[in-house]
Amino acid sequence: MRKIAFFDTKSYDRDSFLKTFGDSEYSIKFIDSRLYEDTAILANDCDAVCAFVNDDLSKGVLDILSSYGIRIVVLRCAGYNNVDLDASYGKIHVLRVPAYSPYAVAEHALALLMALNRKTHKAYNRTRNSNFSIAGLQGFDLYGKSAGIVGTGKIGRIMIDILKGFGMNILAYDYYRDEEYAKTRGISYVDLDFLYKNSDVISLHCPLTKETHHLIDNKAIEMFKDGVFLINTSRGSLIDTESLIYGLKTQKIGAAGLDVYEEESAYFFEDFSETVIQDDVLARLLTFNNVLITSHQAFLTNEALANIASTTLKNLDDFFEGNFLENEICYRCDKKPCKRDLKKNCF
Ligand code: NAI
Repeated sequence: MRKIAFFDTKSYDRDSFLKTFGDSEYSIKFIDSRLYEDTAILANDCDAVCAFVNDDLSKGVLDILSSYGIRIVVLRCAGYNNVDLDASYGKIHVLRVPAYSPYAVAEHALALLMALNRKTHKAYNRTRNSNFSIAGLQGFDLYGKSAGIVGTGKIGRIMIDILKGFGMNILAYDYYRDEEYAKTRGISYVDLDFLYKNSDVISLHCPLTKETHHLIDNKAIEMFKDGVFLINTSRGSLIDTESLIYGLKTQKIGAAGLDVYEEESAYFFEDFSETVIQDDVLARLLTFNNVLITSHQAFLTNEALANIASTTLKNLDDFFEGNFLENEICYRCDKKPCKRDLKKNCF
C-alpha cells in the first residue's frame, strides 16, 4: 500500500478523503500541521504528499521531500502560487485540482456582495438582540449597475452569469481575452482602467502571479468609482492591504468582501478566539463594519470536497500507474497558453 502524507488536515478533509479513498490502494497519514521545512520530516516514510493552499512548497521543502524519494505532490486546490515551480521541475511532479466547483467560489463571492450590500451581517446581530430598527441598513439595487470582473476563467464566467441574472452590466477584463466567449455571452472586454473607473462592484477572479501581485494598489483605487464594492475570493496578495485600508478610511471603497488576505497563512483555518491578534493590519481590517472577512472558505461545499478528493485520487493513480499527468503543473505550464506537449509529462 502506498502512503500519502496529508498535511494541514481538517475534519472536513478527513471525512471527504476517507470516503473517497476507502477502497483504494492508498493509506493516508493525516497530519494536523502545515507543511514547511521543520515538518517536512513527517513525510519521510511516505510515497507522496498531499498539500493545501498555505503549505510551503518552496525550494527548501521540495529538496527535503525529494531527499526522501518523494516524486509527487498532489495539491488539493486549484491555485499553486505557493509552489516554487522552477525548483520542482525535474525532481517532483506537482499536480493540482484545476476545477472542483467553480460554482462554490462564485456563489460565495455573491454571498459576500449580497451580505455587504443589504447589510445582512448587521441585521442578523440586530434582530438577535431584539433590535428591529432598519435605520442604516439601506442598500442599492444590483439591477442596472456595472460589475467589473477581473479574470474570465472558470469562476469569473460563473460570476458573470450570476450577475447577469441580476440585470447587471458586465465589464470584463482578462489578460487573455476570449472574444468568442464574450460574443456568445453578450458581454464586452474592456481595459483595466475603464473597468476601475466604471464599475460599481469589482470582483477578482484571476490567479496570483508576478503580474497580478498588488493589482489593487493606491493607483488602482484612485481610479475607482466612489463607494465601489470590492470582492476578493482569489488570492490575498492581489490587493495591497495597506492601500485597501486607506481606500476604506477615505470611503473611496464602500465595502470589501474578502475570503482571502495577504498574510492569511498565519491565521486562516485556525481558531485564535482565545488569543490576541498580533497582525495589526488584519486587526484594523476587522474593525471596519463594511468589511466582511471569511477565512478562505469559498471552496467549502459538499460538491467541491467530493470533487477535490476524487480528482486527487485520479492524480495519484495517473502518477503511480505511469499514465499521462493531465493535471500536472510546471514552470512552463505557468504561462498561458500552455506550451506543454499534451502527450508527454513535464519530465
Ligand atoms: P482559471 O484559470 O479558470 O481562470 C483564471 C483567469 O484569469 C484566466 O482566464 C486567465 O486568463 C486570467 N488571468 C491570468 N492572468 C491574468 C492577469 N494578469 N490579469 C487578468 N486576468 C488574468 O481559474 P479559476 O478556476 O477561475 O480560479 C481563479 C482563482 O480563484 C484561482 O487562481 C485561485 O487563486 C482562486 N480560488 C479561490 C478559492 C477559494 O476558496 N477562495 C478556490 C478556488 C480558486
